Amino acid sequence: MNLRAITCRPVRGLALALASASVLASTHDARPGNTPVTRGEALFSKYCALCHGASGAGDGRAAAVQKVAPANLTVSTRTRSYKMQIVRDGGAAMDRSSSMPAWRDVLTDADIADVVDYVQTLNERNRR
Ligand code: HEC
Repeated sequence: MNLRAITCRPVRGLALALASASVLASTHDARPGNTPVTRGEALFSKYCALCHGASGAGDGRAAAVQKVAPANLTVSTRTRSYKMQIVRDGGAAMDRSSSMPAWRDVLTDADIADVVDYVQTLNERNRR
């Protein structure tokens, strides 16, 4: 029997398992049901809900400790492109509060587009 094959196989199996785990962890794979809005929803709960709240109403767990109250995204009158910009560059870059962080070093432009697509669904104006 080939001893090399025996010792190498588990390592190769592990490498494959790690590779497929990172594919599953990616927010941009093509599984069914993996739409911009569902990817955006996952990003929103991870990065935004703390301040903006699970439903985007501005009532997240950390809302009370912000200098300026987190925006209520369910009634926002801002355009999609404004939202893209404030998410990417942060509140201060838009002459607003620095309590709204800049996400460009954390999220890719594709992530930002997805999370803003999800934010649009929270807005009552877009449901009329
Ligand atoms: C640390 C708290 C905090 C986190 C986390 C946070 N925000 Fe904000 N956000 C704010 C605050 C505060 C404002 C309001 C700033 C102001 O009015 O000057 C704001 C404003 C906004 C606005 C402008 C809405 C409007 O109608 O003017 C958008 C859009 C937004 N945030 C989206 C997001 C998204 C998407 C995420 C996650 C990627 C996020 N925010 C994460 C605090 C936060």
